[in-house]
Amino acid sequence: MKINLAYEKEIVAIILYTSAFFIIISVVLVLFFYFSRKKIIQKELEKKDLEIQYQKELLSAVIITQEEERKRIAQDLHDDISSKLNIVSLNSHLLTTPNLSGNEINEITANIINLTAKALDNSRKIAHGLLPPVLEKFGLHAGVEELCLEFNSSKAVTVNYENRTKFAIADNDRHLHVFRILQELMNNSLRHGKATFISILFEEKNGVKICSYSDNGIGFDMKKDTNKKGLGMKNIESRVAFLEGSITIDSAVNKGVSVVFNF
Ligand SMILES: Nc1ncnc2c1ncn2[C@@H]1O[C@H](COP(=O)(O)OP(=O)(O)OP(=O)(O)O)[C@@H](O)[C@H]1O
Ligand SMILES: [Mg+2]
Repeated sequence: MKINLAYEKEIVAIILYTSAFFIIISVVLVLFFYFSRKKIIQKELEKKDLEIQYQKELLSAVIITQEEERKRIAQDLHDDISSKLNIVSLNSHLLTTPNLSGNEINEITANIINLTAKALDNSRKIAHGLLPPVLEKFGLHAGVEELCLEFNSSKAVTVNYENRTKFAIADNDRHLHVFRILQELMNNSLRHGKATFISILFEEKNGVKICSYSDNGIGFDMKKDTNKKGLGMKNIESRVAFLEGSITIDSAVNKGVSVVFNF
């Protein structure tokens, strides 16, 4: 009878210890999952915060550039067009003065013709800067060809351009972004990289258009804060994002710059 009781007690103790063991294990597991889940959620939130911060930076870059562009256009209009039209207007009023000699009339008319021609020329230049007519009429390929020609004619740099794809005029609105990206990349190559050779290639893989760009300039250290994206590079990224493409920028000191993006 005594042996039985001791045996029963032992079994109860074993059951109690095993249950306690499983309860502790379960509590530890629940706590472990709870805290690791919390950590994962925290990490995800931090990632989302960074993404939002990045989107904000892109947006502010776009807004700042837009404002700068407006300021530049306003200045161009004011200095190159309005000022000339003002003098044209003054001269035209002068023509209404009574008793002008033939010489005076000739001089004033020549002034008006000269200033109107200059104002026309300047307005053409401003319009070209805003939207290159070649691009609008003949598409991206012709636009880039003209851009390369302009850079080549500076003699400071040789641009090698190759196009292995076709651009539909109907997509011109999207292609204007590609044109602006190349304009910025080329300006950077000349201004910062002091490059003497630039290469541009358009090709197509699985229906996706790819642009590969490179220069032989001094390049830059991508980790250095001073080389962190300025407005130009941020704008390039937001244009690529708008085109629903992706971009890789690769550079190192004395290794030039290489950029690949798709659209
Ligand atoms: N092709 C390049 N060669 C050498 N350095 C470059 C090149 N492109 C960019 N960089 C470096 O990256 C920085 C950022 O370029 P980004 O175009 O964003 O700004 P920025 O040209 O200085 O100013 P912004 O384009 O707004 O007028 C540059 O200041 C330069 O140091
Ligand atoms: Mg720039």
